Amino acid sequence: MQNILFYQDAFRAHLDAMISDKNPETLYNPIHYILKLGGKRLRPVLTLMTSEIFNCDYKKALDAALSIEVFHNFSLVHDDIMDDAPLRRGQKTVHEKWNINTGILSGDAMLILAYQLFENYEPNTFQALAKLFSKTALEVCEGQQYDIDFETREDVTIPEYLKMIEYKTAVLVGAAMKMGAIVAKASEEDQNGIYEFGKNLGLAFQLQDDYLDAFGDPKSFGKQVGGDIIENKKTFLYLKALMLTSEDEQQQLKHLFSLQPSDQTEKIEAVKDVFLSSGSAEATKQEILRYTTKAFSVLETLNISKDNQQLLKQFGEQLMNRKV
Ligand code: IPE
Ligand code: IPE
Ligand code: MG
Ligand code: MG
Ligand code: MG
Repeated sequence: MQNILFYQDAFRAHLDAMISDKNPETLYNPIHYILKLGGKRLRPVLTLMTSEIFNCDYKKALDAALSIEVFHNFSLVHDDIMDDAPLRRGQKTVHEKWNINTGILSGDAMLILAYQLFENYEPNTFQALAKLFSKTALEVCEGQQYDIDFETREDVTIPEYLKMIEYKTAVLVGAAMKMGAIVAKASEEDQNGIYEFGKNLGLAFQLQDDYLDAFGDPKSFGKQVGGDIIENKKTFLYLKALMLTSEDEQQQLKHLFSLQPSDQTEKIEAVKDVFLSSGSAEATKQEILRYTTKAFSVLETLNISKDNQQLLKQFGEQLMNRKV
């Protein structure tokens, strides 16, 4: 297996080769814009790495990797509309640069492009990939709907939150890896094992995303810091703070989450103070570590070399230390 940079480069070259001038430009320019904005390319790199772990040439997995990344970017375009987000990867979001209708239709086209890429595989692989993709994509929609429903609910529980992030984020990370295993024709047991690894890593990843949304450095984070607080998102930080604070502070936090002030700075700072003083920021870090460790323990059960286990662990550790 090669290092992460190698797979990122190989993926970028494959993406560039797919992008060509097409009409109408008003449909395709936003698609190329978001795909070329970059990002960490976490999911496609995992697809390519997994294919090689299961003894297949990564080149065979390039279209599956591209499909996953196009789907991920589609979900971001629609997510930014739903979350009213101004910034993505340090640049304007698609609906801010163009408009909401453009974001909707370009997003729809990306979802179709993602499916279309499976046509490049022989029938058995095609069917396995398409089946996993459909199941995963529907779960992402379910997770996204829970996320929105929770904004206006006051009785969200931590198990409900965990289910929501499993669906909106973790299953796609699991599926990215399972697709690499499918292309490599790994055993069903290994396919399911690597999915579990990816899913637990994905849970840690979304917890970290929530943490960075509040505590990331605005200069490097690439998204609007405090966006989740503005939108009253019921994150682990929020739910845990409610559990750890006094009755008075609980009321204060709930009150802050009922406000929609015209200047959000004060609300963001006040909420972050409670996240820190309650110990919920620290508890979130512990939870990230817990899911990452859980992912690592799944690795032991897989039919892969110790070296490859080590490389996947390194990947998980790097994710835990990310700032973006
Ligand atoms: C953002 O995903 C959406 C989440 C599921 C948290 P990433 O953090 O992987 O975004 P990019 O692709 O690197 O920009
Ligand atoms: C994103 O969750 C999940 C999907 C896009 C499906 P977030 O709303 O937290 O992602 P960011 O923070 O905008 O990247
Ligand atoms: Mg969002
Ligand atoms: Mg969202
Ligand atoms: Mg987020």
